Amino acid sequence: MAAAIRPMTQRDVAPAAEALLRGQWGDRRAFFDFAVRHPECEPMVAEVGRTIAGTVVATRHGFTGWIGLVFVSEDQRRAGLGSALTKAALERLEQAACRTISLVATDMGRPIYERLGFEVVGRYIGLTRPGAPTDGDDDGATARAFHLRDLDAVCRLDAWATGEDRSHLLQAIALEGAGIVVDAASGSRRLRGGGPRIRGFSLPSGWGGWPTIATTPGDALLLLEGIRRTRGTDRALHNAVLEQNVPGRRLLLDAGWQETWRGVRMIRGEPLDWHPDAIYGQFNFGLG
Ligand SMILES: CC(C)(COP(=O)(O)OP(=O)(O)OC[C@H]1O[C@@H](n2cnc3c(N)ncnc32)[C@H](O)[C@@H]1OP(=O)(O)O)[C@@H](O)C(=O)NCCC(=O)NCCS
Repeated sequence: MAAAIRPMTQRDVAPAAEALLRGQWGDRRAFFDFAVRHPECEPMVAEVGRTIAGTVVATRHGFTGWIGLVFVSEDQRRAGLGSALTKAALERLEQAACRTISLVATDMGRPIYERLGFEVVGRYIGLTRPGAPTDGDDDGATARAFHLRDLDAVCRLDAWATGEDRSHLLQAIALEGAGIVVDAASGSRRLRGGGPRIRGFSLPSGWGGWPTIATTPGDALLLLEGIRRTRGTDRALHNAVLEQNVPGRRLLLDAGWQETWRGVRMIRGEPLDWHPDAIYGQFNFGLG
């Protein structure tokens, strides 16, 4: 039976999430629920008969874009559906004038993306550490709670680090008091030039990921330790750094983080003007 690719609707969220759960591709319900409502996201499904057999999410970050959540149910694989979903997302992003399109590839997905002209620009190393007691020692004297008035500075730092305009996502998830920042005015490490300048942030996405940017490994450690304490002991934190960020990775490993998985960052189109060493956490691997 031929598959039809069409936009994901609110009614598709539960069955699409169930298909991914069955395929052991994680619990994506909260993210799909966000994606069907967020204007810059275009989630799509592949339907075979009346059954959802695959998903993809295309997201525009201004002049760049991301493709993620490429998934095909096991009984429908190797019939071209994964390629068709990826192409559909690519077309939408190219129509929206995205000049650089990114994704994170598993070994299974990589041949599809290579055939479509994507090239490897880096390798992510997944890291994990269990949560910490919420009343644990506060060694984060230089980190403080995120306030909505920090949002502009957070967006500027994020754009510097990623080379992308993800402000639409940061605005969508920003909540007063939720998340942590390190700024120049806090603690003893005052930057010259007056006014607080954000040196790092980590915000809760609402679906599990914590986009985290820091200009030094030390700030990254402060932020990630701070997040662990907001999660309590029963929930582990998962994040990833780029392989080339050797000092950042070493500091986190020395502090007790453990390496989990590896996946390649691939892009198609213009090179990014980014600072990958400042990236310590992701919205998820379909958004960056
Ligand atoms: C990756 C995935 C989406 C591919 O879906 P699909 O419908 O089988 O994809 P296509 O039929 O278009 O292309 C499959 C091609 O990818 C490669 N491929 C797919 N599954 C593979 C596997 N199990 N092992 C190795 N290569 C595989 C092959 O090159 C294959 O081409 P071939 O069959 O002609 O040799 C699917 O395997 C899947 O959902 N995997 C789990 C989730 C995942 O890894 N998603 C990718 C995230 S980047």
